[in-house]
Amino acid sequence: MSKVRIGFIGVGGMAEHHIKTLQKIEQAEFAAVYDINGERAKQISDTYGAEVFASAQQLMDSGKVDALYVCTPPFARGTIEEEAAAKGIHLLSEKPVGLDMETANRISKKITEAGIINSSGYCLRYLETVQKAKSYLADKQIDMIQAYRIGGLPGAKWWTQMNMSGGQIVEQATHQVDLVRYLAGEFDQVQSLYAQRSLRRLAPDATIPDVGIVSFTMRSGAIGSLVNSCVSPHYGRGDVELFGLDFYLAIKGNSLTIHDATQKQTEKCDTDYVLEQDRAFVEAIRTGRQELVLGSYAEAVATLEATLCFNESAEKNSPVAVG
Ligand SMILES: NC(=O)c1ccc[n+]([C@@H]2O[C@H](COP(=O)([O-])OP(=O)(O)OC[C@H]3O[C@@H](n4cnc5c(N)ncnc54)[C@H](O)[C@@H]3O)[C@@H](O)[C@H]2O)c1
Repeated sequence: MSKVRIGFIGVGGMAEHHIKTLQKIEQAEFAAVYDINGERAKQISDTYGAEVFASAQQLMDSGKVDALYVCTPPFARGTIEEEAAAKGIHLLSEKPVGLDMETANRISKKITEAGIINSSGYCLRYLETVQKAKSYLADKQIDMIQAYRIGGLPGAKWWTQMNMSGGQIVEQATHQVDLVRYLAGEFDQVQSLYAQRSLRRLAPDATIPDVGIVSFTMRSGAIGSLVNSCVSPHYGRGDVELFGLDFYLAIKGNSLTIHDATQKQTEKCDTDYVLEQDRAFVEAIRTGRQELVLGSYAEAVATLEATLCFNESAEKNSPVAVG
């Protein structure tokens, strides 16, 4: 295969970021686009090239793409991924990969059966600092975890609707939940407290909670918590901190801090993690090596499951077992 011909379904903010990024990858060609908003699809096509299609199905049937980026909001995925898998079209689905486990598991099974290269939007896995942290932690016992996703409200209207986004933990703090899974293993039990405090001053019909505190146990025996707010425009953080008898390790943005008996240091990396993610996907397609992808669709489903359990725990006001 010379160039990997790539189509996009849904071309909002994140899709445009991928399209710009793919321009830096010689082996990738932005070939096709469909968006429910035809004007937006045309604008993207006028700016970056690529043929506009009248539907996702026509795009997939055209024979003009080897791979598809699905960048619609999570409520608007429909049957795109299943159809792509059935046609042997390789797939990168943005996070979160859905809003219910039955659908996500069904799609995951079809992707596995089809044997296509598959990837998800968990781009933080590609940070050099995250890779270093993973190696460092390989022989460490993690006792406690503290994660944060705090910031202001994203602009999209769908984001404030529970049935469209799943709320901040499912939609956004999912990155930190995924990092916890990637570095510290699987969740065991979760217990959540959610509230909606100030959000309706910004979005009067919002249905999502705007603050949350989640505590959890891991299968390893470690315990932890995740704190999130989307109504904190004056202070933000998106960190994961891990504590053990032999070490302290923190990932804060692009920095990695490690304190232990021999070192107390913070290093920063300048990884363009979306570029690394897109490069890995393209290279995996070219070589047939799924292992180049650090966050497969199945991995994204496992992260989705944990975040949906957080929501379920808040709804029921009781602990929920993950898996
Ligand atoms: N990996 C990351 O760091 C990251 C960052 C931002 C967003 N995202 C994810 O990317 C996805 C899109 O987010 P966004 O910020 O680009 O949203 P957005 O609202 O900017 O764009 C969504 C686009 O999808 C289109 N769309 C909606 N329904 C559609 C349908 N049925 N068929 C075709 N097109 C449809 C809309 O018209 C719009 O152009 C979300 O899942 C989000 O979580 C990931």
